[in-house]
Amino acid sequence: MNIEKLFNKEVMSLDTYIMFKLKEITSKLTPELIKKNRAPISLSMGAPTANPPKALTDRLKEILDEDGIHTYSTPKGESYLRKAIAERMKKRFNVDLDADTEIFSLVGSKEGIANLVRFITTPKEYEYDKDVIMVPDPCYASYLQFIQCSGAKAYSMPLTKENNYQPNIEEIYHQILNEGYKAENIKAVFINYPNNPMGISTSKEYVKSIIDFCRKYDILLVSDAAYADLYFSEDEKPFSIFELDGAKDVGIEFYSFSKPYAITGWRLGWVCGNKDVVQRFGKGKSTIDNGIFKALQKACAEILNSEEGDKYIEEGNKGYARKQAIMVKGFKELGWEIDEKTVPHTTFYLWLPIPKRYKSAFDFCEDVLKTSGVVLVPGNAFGTHGEGFFRLSFVCSDEQLQEVIDRFKADGFTFN
Ligand SMILES: Cc1ncc(COP(=O)(O)O)c(C=O)c1O
Repeated sequence: MNIEKLFNKEVMSLDTYIMFKLKEITSKLTPELIKKNRAPISLSMGAPTANPPKALTDRLKEILDEDGIHTYSTPKGESYLRKAIAERMKKRFNVDLDADTEIFSLVGSKEGIANLVRFITTPKEYEYDKDVIMVPDPCYASYLQFIQCSGAKAYSMPLTKENNYQPNIEEIYHQILNEGYKAENIKAVFINYPNNPMGISTSKEYVKSIIDFCRKYDILLVSDAAYADLYFSEDEKPFSIFELDGAKDVGIEFYSFSKPYAITGWRLGWVCGNKDVVQRFGKGKSTIDNGIFKALQKACAEILNSEEGDKYIEEGNKGYARKQAIMVKGFKELGWEIDEKTVPHTTFYLWLPIPKRYKSAFDFCEDVLKTSGVVLVPGNAFGTHGEGFFRLSFVCSDEQLQEVIDRFKADGFTFN
């Protein structure tokens, strides 16, 4: 079949998503790596490997026997889930949200963000007619695919040491216009704190300046808070944009159950915020799915405001602090200059420069994989400003993390 004729050009231009591509490459290399005692250790995907809270899986098993639980839900989510989310947002951030109009359930936040991009953009042929979404660079690699797939333009907001990881949004806006894109086509600004892949956070003042910018130009602010519960220093405790004045005028925020409760396979999240945006988004989404399996919604609604849930998150974060310490110590021994004062205490990612002797992040990650069986992600997969860096996720066991350091030492992967 002539698939070029069948699929639109945006879909035809897509490459396999980086995390799945790495999985494919790794599985091809596995027999060879096992033979040389270097069975693959994956530090690529951001998917916690611990078991979910026992209270959550126990309740799910019970709920499975309830009458009526196996039928269609609704796209917006059952009211018990939305009410539990409103309660959580109040308790966690002191933010008031109306469970009926300002919260909508998602089949994972990835689905929600992907569909949002489809709903707010129109594919255009001519480059400078394209709808523009401003994204952090580096960013969650899926943003770039969502935007490419929608025939829109992802405009980079570089996160660099030089700009203190706080790009000047007003300056970038004018740069976009100077390049020839149209003001009316600038649809949204994405922010993501704590950030994937770098783990960085930011100040309330900076986010407030972005809110003010969005209000000034009538641009949607999309905050991706997938890692809001992954922090291991009170000083870096993530906040919601809705703690700040004016955010609801222009903003929506995406949340995920995946990471805090180690249930990446369950596919649950929510979007909340500006009522008109959430409701209109919901109209679009209602053409796509019938909501999430009710048993999952019910079990998750209960864990969200429970002592077991909070304890699980707290313990998980202690574990990430310990795992980060193993990796920081190990990489320092290997010659990486890591200032412990500036290492973020959020997420489960470590973002490090590649050794100077490598020409690109891809070359370094490929060499590490083929030699040591350790799966890292080249930084440029997250945007052009990620070149020269790599990301690792410390979600596996402490023993495996130590094994990574031992292999690096044995195989000569030092920084200098
Ligand atoms: C920044 C960010 N947002 C959203 C997601 C998607 O999470 P999920 O679809 O599991 O809710 C991820 C997953 O890695 C992520 O890193």
